[in-house]
Amino acid sequence: MELIDGKKVAATLKEEIAQEVDNIIAAGKKRPHLAAVLVGHDGGSETYVAAKVKACEQCGFKSTLIRREDDVTEEELLKIVDRLNNDSDVDGFIVQLPLPRHIDEQKIIEAIDPRKDVDGFHPINVGRMSIGLPCFKSATPAGIMELLARYNIPTSGRRCVVLGRSNIVGKPVATLMMQKGYPGNATVTVCHSASENLKEICREADIIIAALGKPGFVTADMVKEGATIIDVGTTRVPDATKKSGFRLSGDVDFESVAPKCSFITPVPGGVGPMTIASLMKNTLLAASHEIYK
Ligand code: GUN
Repeated sequence: MELIDGKKVAATLKEEIAQEVDNIIAAGKKRPHLAAVLVGHDGGSETYVAAKVKACEQCGFKSTLIRREDDVTEEELLKIVDRLNNDSDVDGFIVQLPLPRHIDEQKIIEAIDPRKDVDGFHPINVGRMSIGLPCFKSATPAGIMELLARYNIPTSGRRCVVLGRSNIVGKPVATLMMQKGYPGNATVTVCHSASENLKEICREADIIIAALGKPGFVTADMVKEGATIIDVGTTRVPDATKKSGFRLSGDVDFESVAPKCSFITPVPGGVGPMTIASLMKNTLLAASHEIYK
């Protein structure tokens, strides 16, 4: 069994980006700039946004954090999005999700200029990805593909089972795994809460991508000997032995599953760091106008 070290690959990726930024600055061009909008004080969102700001520093990007309280109106958020769309110094921006219930998340996402949508959540980017056109790919699926590629994990003709059908992980990663080329060309099955015979389907998989947010859901009896396991779960579970009072739990029962695998991602330190590194990559692509010329 080989552990897939997402922390190490993400560090390498960020170093490559920082090198590219040095070249950009040396060529007299402007520093890439990522802005993030954070509403309220959700613990997970605070952690993710802080990590994104830190990653910007590591890559040599400028970053701007725009904070609003939970009671911000939809109208004000739309104004902020409009301002960022029209700010020529901002290359890309994200609105951290989830948003408070009184705000229509989809409306906010669709207000973002697709050319600055470095999260890849706008329907234009989602649609372009689904037909294989240049686009911003959402960060977690892109990070998973990068991990598979950097560990030379065979995907062509292999059976891939995706657990979960969310718009930000399950659906896009299934699309990328079936696209032409490497990493891709897989035979993909997507399982979800209504799927029957889920265990049997998983047992046929060469690659399982678990993204359902159910701690320890994937157990050893669901895994074929020699499979590759990508664990996207990051559920906070109470843990009195931790200073924070919680620990992050993946969707895979690591202890029992790891000995059966050829490759497995840990939680934390697997997919999580790659999500942030992919967002940095998208920001670099936005700054260099490589996707939308
Ligand atoms: N919430 C959880 N993951 C993400 C992400 O990748 N981007 C944004 N904007 N919000 C999130």
